[in-house]
Amino acid sequence: MPFIVKKRINGNDYYYLRQSIREEGKVVSKYLAYLGKNRGEAEKKAKEIMNNIETNQKIVAGNVPKTEEPTEATKISVDDMAMFCKRKGFVYASGEIYGGLAGFWDFGPLGAELKNNLKREWWKYHVYSREDVVGIDGSIITHPMVWKASGHVDSFSDVFVVCKECKKPSKIDRAEIGKVKCINCQGEYDFANAKDFMLMFKTTVGLDTLAYLRPETAQLIFADFKSVSENSRAKLPFGIAQIGKAFRNEIAPRDFIFRNREFEQMEIEYFVKPGEDCPYEIPNEEILVFSAEAQEKAEEPVKMKFKEALEKGIIKKKWHAYWLSNEFLFFKNLGANTDNFRIRQHAKTELAHYSSDCWDLEYNFPFGWKELEGIADRSNYDLKQHEKFSKKDLTVFDEETKERFLPEVICEPSLGVERAFLVFMFDAYHDDKKRNNIVLKLHPKLSPVKAAIFPIIKKPEFEEIATKVLSILNQEWNVLYDKSGSIGRRYARNDEAGTPYCITIDGDSLKNNDVTIRDRDTTQQIRVKVSDVKDVLRKLINREIEFEKAGRKL
Ligand code: GAP
Repeated sequence: MPFIVKKRINGNDYYYLRQSIREEGKVVSKYLAYLGKNRGEAEKKAKEIMNNIETNQKIVAGNVPKTEEPTEATKISVDDMAMFCKRKGFVYASGEIYGGLAGFWDFGPLGAELKNNLKREWWKYHVYSREDVVGIDGSIITHPMVWKASGHVDSFSDVFVVCKECKKPSKIDRAEIGKVKCINCQGEYDFANAKDFMLMFKTTVGLDTLAYLRPETAQLIFADFKSVSENSRAKLPFGIAQIGKAFRNEIAPRDFIFRNREFEQMEIEYFVKPGEDCPYEIPNEEILVFSAEAQEKAEEPVKMKFKEALEKGIIKKKWHAYWLSNEFLFFKNLGANTDNFRIRQHAKTELAHYSSDCWDLEYNFPFGWKELEGIADRSNYDLKQHEKFSKKDLTVFDEETKERFLPEVICEPSLGVERAFLVFMFDAYHDDKKRNNIVLKLHPKLSPVKAAIFPIIKKPEFEEIATKVLSILNQEWNVLYDKSGSIGRRYARNDEAGTPYCITIDGDSLKNNDVTIRDRDTTQQIRVKVSDVKDVLRKLINREIEFEKAGRKL
């Protein structure tokens, strides 16, 4: 019989429907559905689901009623994704044993691997595979003048209002004062007591020096620009990349790991000589384009090639079209669903103080189209400010014209690690009704565990080959050894964790010194010699070979 469970996460109550079932001789509790945050509504929803189960379905123990075959990622709410991430060990609320702290998250064993893989792939794509980008790793706390020069001390704040009815605090734009209703309950805001709220976290260095936790990684790149350009002997155009933590004291962190107070950014400042042309080809890719003009006229976004948007003058600069398409390709190459992406231009009133043009790469999250990555033209605003405040010359010398000039940042692709993490999780999440379990179809390069190794039975001769395979593979990848439960349970566990390949050692392995490799997405199997397993796995992870051709098909 299903039953309702209440969970307290970050001070909020969440209700779930669970069911006790017997599995391999043990009684276990299985997740059925998320019921919302309100007890009354949760009971109503639970009743509906249970009626549905009783009248319409012959429910198979522990499974939600069968619906149509999923052909693409199963759409789930952000709360369901949070629940799944917690259950599988991807993400937990930080300090959860004390009730959690809003806007702070810990990444569990699978989440830490996925996050590291994501950052590694970003670095390979943006730094290693290009001759014109170098990387740095700046400090989190830096000289406070960096933030004065950048404009953050004076203008990095939100307007904070409290609803007179539900008493919930909200962040609003300055232009919205007196005009908007509470986003939570549509009540009246107390505009008379609206407050400016500084988003930077303050701290003290030594006894009493005021400092800030960095709210973006970008400023460290500007502050180090002179040294990096001299050390790397980089010639314009070139970029400086950085991955690292950023902190913002958001008034209302929300939507799981979408808006946090502590997060990570992957940013590039791409410097050019003013007026310098973009020498790169624009990939022949298509995307939904939502210009500032279309938004103003309340028109729909239009699907077109990046090239076409440039030719029609919708995207003004070739550099911008190039970086937008390049960033879109990063997601496409790693298996994200391109239908969930669009680019949206900022309206003039939306532009940050440093930006002359900005496009966001947006993703269609379950809670709407939202910014995934900002791609701004920052001109020479930041270098100019740092010259002014530091009184240091940050210009570069042009060998041809024998002149000194200040480079411009023609594009700043700035991506949050946690938002990219969510995108790949949503696009990978498949509720496979045939298999009766979740299949997380992550690109193998992103998968937390690359292969799971199973001796089919717990006997020394099987385990000997299995541990040999383990020791060959774990020199290069995160792989795991799993000998508990039926093979079906082991497959299901690993499908849910996104493990792309399961390697089984069976009776034939003892005779032929080979193994079976099973593909997570198709459940097809091939036979491969133990001596070839590492090479085959490498080709499969890099998608250099089709699964069926990687071994003897079974
Ligand atoms: N240096 C430019 C900059 O920081 P931004 O639009 O404020 O620009 C860039 O942030 C990206 O950082 C966003 O597109 C988003 O992916 C991520 N980001 C920003 N604030 C965030 C938050 N509170 N939580 C999670 N990610 C955030």
